[in-house]
Amino acid sequence: MDFPKNVIEQLAAAKRVAVLTGAGISAESGVATFRGKDGIWNKLKPEELASMDAFLKNPSMVLEWYDYRRKLIIDVKPNNAHTTLAEMEARYPYFAISTQNIDGLHRKAGSQNVFELHGNILRNRCNECGAIIDDVEFAKGSPLPRCTCNGIVRPDVVWFGEMLPVEILETSYEKAAQADVYLSVGTSAVVYPAAQLPMAAKQNGAFVIEINLEPTPLSPYVDASFFGKAGDVLPQLWRQVKERLDA
Ligand code: OAD
Repeated sequence: MDFPKNVIEQLAAAKRVAVLTGAGISAESGVATFRGKDGIWNKLKPEELASMDAFLKNPSMVLEWYDYRRKLIIDVKPNNAHTTLAEMEARYPYFAISTQNIDGLHRKAGSQNVFELHGNILRNRCNECGAIIDDVEFAKGSPLPRCTCNGIVRPDVVWFGEMLPVEILETSYEKAAQADVYLSVGTSAVVYPAAQLPMAAKQNGAFVIEINLEPTPLSPYVDASFFGKAGDVLPQLWRQVKERLDA
């Protein structure tokens, strides 16, 4: 793929790069997306599985579903898109990833400055006191896992209708507002407030690049869109930027 000269130049000149990622970046690692072909929300209703109402009504069912998803995620490996972002972090003075993904793959790929907007499925917390609790069993048939305060332990993820972690959201806005270049990778850009981040970057003067399989509501507003698999497009783009930086 040949990228327009101005895109390569913007990335080569940037000091501050920030990124928003969504389920599409992990699709090539084998993690299901939510929307589009084979999306989780095509078959299941989010309000029946990923909401406080569902949890209070039937905690075992919700925990079993997360246990199932956790088992699918625990062994997956980062793909070329994740590792490219980790490489980029090593090269830019300021680099940050805000992710809507709960799979932990950015950190597995070596990225350090990662802000998980929707939590992390590999971590648990008490639904009452918020204590982070490891080593709990959510498997079918096991008793509900309890904290020492007697609250039920749940995955440390954000459910529909819940607030995003305030500090992580604020930092993500800060990174977007300060960015010279902002990348939006593999997100349908329909879930707020995360979907607002690329627009916040744009409003503050960033050059915004989108990488996705298909156009999104963000596409009309960005400076450049590249339609293809993140695991193909991102490494190619970065290779051309590196050639420029090393020239
Ligand atoms: P979606 O499933 O809504 O969107 C995934 C996007 O990735 C789509 O636009 C696809 O076209 C694109 N895509 C798929 N495969 C790709 C690939 N290999 N390379 C590049 N793009 C690809 O996922 P998100 O935008 O992350 O929230 O969804 C946002 C939130 O909605 C999730 O965090 C989750 C969900 O409900 C919560 O659970 C709170």
